[in-house]
Amino acid sequence: MSISTKSFEIFCGTGGVGKTTLATARALAQASTGLRVLLITIDPARRLKDLLGLKEDSIGDICPVEVNHIKLHALLMSPEKTIQRMAEKYQTPDLASNRIVKILSKPYGGMNEILSLVEVQMQFDSGNYDVIVLDTPPGAHFLDFLEGIGKIRSFFDQSFVEIFSYIGSKTASAGKKVFGFGIINRVISGGLRKLLGYLQKFTDAKFIEDFIRAVQIIYQSKEAFLKGLSLQDRLKSKEECNWFLVTSVEQGKAQEAIEMKNHASSFIHQDHFLVLNKCLEQEMKDWHPGDEKLKLIRASLDIREKELKESLRSVFPHVLEFPEVMSLEPIEHVNNLTEKWKSYVP
Ligand SMILES: Nc1ncnc2c1ncn2[C@@H]1O[C@H](COP(=O)(O)OP(=O)(O)O)[C@@H](O)[C@H]1O
Ligand SMILES: [Mg+2]
Repeated sequence: MSISTKSFEIFCGTGGVGKTTLATARALAQASTGLRVLLITIDPARRLKDLLGLKEDSIGDICPVEVNHIKLHALLMSPEKTIQRMAEKYQTPDLASNRIVKILSKPYGGMNEILSLVEVQMQFDSGNYDVIVLDTPPGAHFLDFLEGIGKIRSFFDQSFVEIFSYIGSKTASAGKKVFGFGIINRVISGGLRKLLGYLQKFTDAKFIEDFIRAVQIIYQSKEAFLKGLSLQDRLKSKEECNWFLVTSVEQGKAQEAIEMKNHASSFIHQDHFLVLNKCLEQEMKDWHPGDEKLKLIRASLDIREKELKESLRSVFPHVLEFPEVMSLEPIEHVNNLTEKWKSYVP
């Protein structure tokens, strides 16, 4: 079986199943055929950093890496650096300097997902890559975000316009004076009025000015955000994106994968792959224990894995199996799994 090359590949799944390891191996297998590959991780766990030997100060930068003479580029997502790149590309320097935007674009500032999409879109636009492989954080959060994109889009279209009609135009008189405008109090939504009220009480006028300015700057950068969000159409398309839902033979993990698939059913297209990691079948073939107790253990492991595979095959269109690599060295896991991925490269 071969898996065709697509512009985007997404690895998702619960924690510890091997997403980062498999995404790295997949990226290397594709790069080994001469494709220009960018591997991006938005997992704050930063395992990729250790795996590829990247330095702390390289976080957020696109770094050339070489593993076993295979070359590719890797990026450990940092929302702050993405904001800087956006500011440069779209010539909106205020985006990188406003202090509220800075807070929002901290790693847990809430803009992680949207900025990841903007980053992927910018890298795709650069034309420098044939394939962008995306390693996501554990859990369904990123998928939930993708599912909710429609709402965010309409937020840009409607809510912002609403906010602007009443506040944006008054930026010049920001600060205490803003609240003197009767029309604002009458027209803007209760929630926003409340928020501005709190801000006025607990912060200085400069903060409110920065806040209003931040809303304005984000709106002015609307094009970049909306372009990032429009990436969803590509990610949803069979022709442009490979989805790898990763799980492992450990107990309970497969059920989590099934739940995740159901969770994002409108997003993950029908042609996705279930990647079953850490399979023991191959290893057990050459294991013939003499001891009775070990025989029982072997038989039960064998049955458990067979049943698991059967149940997964009934739910997922394509199941790819990867072996448990008998080593304590993470780079050995990557090397071994890269060879396995090579067998799927057309
Ligand atoms: N096929 C495998 N065989 C053995 N160990 C593996 C395999 N795949 C991953 N690992 C190891 O499992 C641990 C978790 O892998 P990781 O890729 O960080 O998972 P995730 O990104 O899903 O949290 C790491 O120590 C990794 O080296
Ligand atoms: Mg990971």
